Amino acid sequence: MRSLRKRLLTGFAVVAMAAVAGCADEPSNSGNIDPSVCDTSFLNYDNFAGPFVTNWCRGCHSSSAPADMRQKAPADVNFDDAAAVRKWAARIEARTTGDNVSMPPAGGPSEMERAALAEWIACGTR
Ligand code: HEC
Repeated sequence: MRSLRKRLLTGFAVVAMAAVAGCADEPSNSGNIDPSVCDTSFLNYDNFAGPFVTNWCRGCHSSSAPADMRQKAPADVNFDDAAAVRKWAARIEARTTGDNVSMPPAGGPSEMERAALAEWIACGTR
């Protein structure tokens, strides 16, 4: 269940990201993010990545999720807290941003949310 507060936070991040992305050449994945974007990026774990992962990933990738809710997500792939999300950042980027997105399995995050995730990772998961 997504709380209103989390949805608002994510919505705010996405709207502000759109403003930032409008100035960048190719913001769609971290491989071609202009490094200068990171000078002004406001995205951090608390205001963006944590809510994103809660909204889109933790239903399956949480060590507290019952086995029948994980829908076969591997038992060792859990994004319980900031440290775990950072540890998995490279695989999260590979599966969730860029051209061949495959997580969440049923889709859902908008292009802007995925671009913001790529920016958060490219700028060092601060
Ligand atoms: C409906 C359940 C579900 C949700 C929601 C989900 N996943 Fe997964 N995830 C899986 C399953 C099942 C696998 C194992 C099969 C596979 O790798 O495709 C998996 C595997 C993974 C792996 C490990 C394999 C690898 O490529 O390293 C990563 C990383 C991952 N998911 C990231 C994410 C991210 C990031 C999100 C949120 C944006 C997410 N997942 C949302 C079910 C889910």
